[in-house]
Amino acid sequence: MAFEREWGTLAGIGGGGAGGYHRFAWTPADLALRAWFREQAARRDMACEQDRNGNLWAWWGTPGPGAVVTGSHLDSVPGGGAFDGPLGVVSAFLAIDVLRERGVEPARPIAVVDFADEEGARFGVACVGSRLLTGVLTPDDARALRDGDGVTLAEAMRAADADPDALGRDERALERIGSFVEMHVEQGRALDDLGARVGVASAIWPHGRWRCTFHGVADHAGTTRLADRHDPMQPFASTVLAARGMAERFGGLATFGKVRVEPGATNAIPSRVDAWLDCRAPDETTVTRMVKEIGAAARRAAGLHDVRVEVVTESSTPLVEFGDALRDRISAALGGVPALPTGAGHDAGVLSASVPAAMLFVRNPTGVSHSPAEHAETGDCVTGVFALAAVLEDLACR
Ligand code: GLV
Ligand code: MN
Ligand code: MN
Repeated sequence: MAFEREWGTLAGIGGGGAGGYHRFAWTPADLALRAWFREQAARRDMACEQDRNGNLWAWWGTPGPGAVVTGSHLDSVPGGGAFDGPLGVVSAFLAIDVLRERGVEPARPIAVVDFADEEGARFGVACVGSRLLTGVLTPDDARALRDGDGVTLAEAMRAADADPDALGRDERALERIGSFVEMHVEQGRALDDLGARVGVASAIWPHGRWRCTFHGVADHAGTTRLADRHDPMQPFASTVLAARGMAERFGGLATFGKVRVEPGATNAIPSRVDAWLDCRAPDETTVTRMVKEIGAAARRAAGLHDVRVEVVTESSTPLVEFGDALRDRISAALGGVPALPTGAGHDAGVLSASVPAAMLFVRNPTGVSHSPAEHAETGDCVTGVFALAAVLEDLACR
């Protein structure tokens, strides 16, 4: 198995090492990853196309209905690990190699997909490619998304020679998907605890992103009396602590991982703090309650400092329960593997509302993810490739 060699061909694109990967949508790193994908397809004589929403597809067989689709994404969070996303794409190509070496002749087409902008690291909304494909995100809302420099998604796509006017629900692409199976590194330690190399996903927790903006008044850090301040950093800090408390109280997760402070000077009271809340829980009612309580805490804290706060939903993803039929079939094809829920979002979750979708997880010995320390042992990745090949063969040949 040429896993290490294939894996190595991606390693130098968009960062790596101690600083992690910085592979953001429609940047030069993303374009290099897209070129890599096209090259992988060409080497295998697979026809490659970019769909209306910027997702890349490589086809073994004639594109058409009933296709067995596999793959994942190549973009990363800031300072991301090597495995989240790329493992599913590399494994997909290698699984096809395994089937071809065995002389398997699929009765249905098999496609490898690279979904655009899964992490939402640049434009703030995750799974943009699959949300657009399925119509969950409208083209107008997508085109208007802005990155931290104010560049819209539409402008970024044009700069990368892609056409933002073509964005939108893609019936033709959807009709071709008979089933979608995404292989992914596990982002927890459940498989390690169970002593299993591979598992299937049972569910994805509902989750979302909320922008909390605290509007204060800029002033001098050395001359403004405490009583005269309208310091937005104070209620923001209280809200971070309140969010942690709510997560503990409700059995969910709440994270502020991104903050923008204006004007951003050590010696000035900020005029504005934008902070992004990521909130997740096992059920939607709990997510809604947590966000409501965190918003209330933010407003209370803001009131104490004469600061104005607004909370805006940037994205919201419902609970995903992967269908039993495909999941059980996959598990049976692998001789029975553990089924796990996850708190991480995935394109497979978005697709599951429109087509039969499932996920395979590969053991992550530390559980660390969204970090340069994310890891999977090569032996487990190879096991994952053979597992994916078995699943593709089952779905495409029987
Ligand atoms: C994506 O990885 C997410 O769970 O946010
Ligand atoms: Mn991720
Ligand atoms: Mn991922």
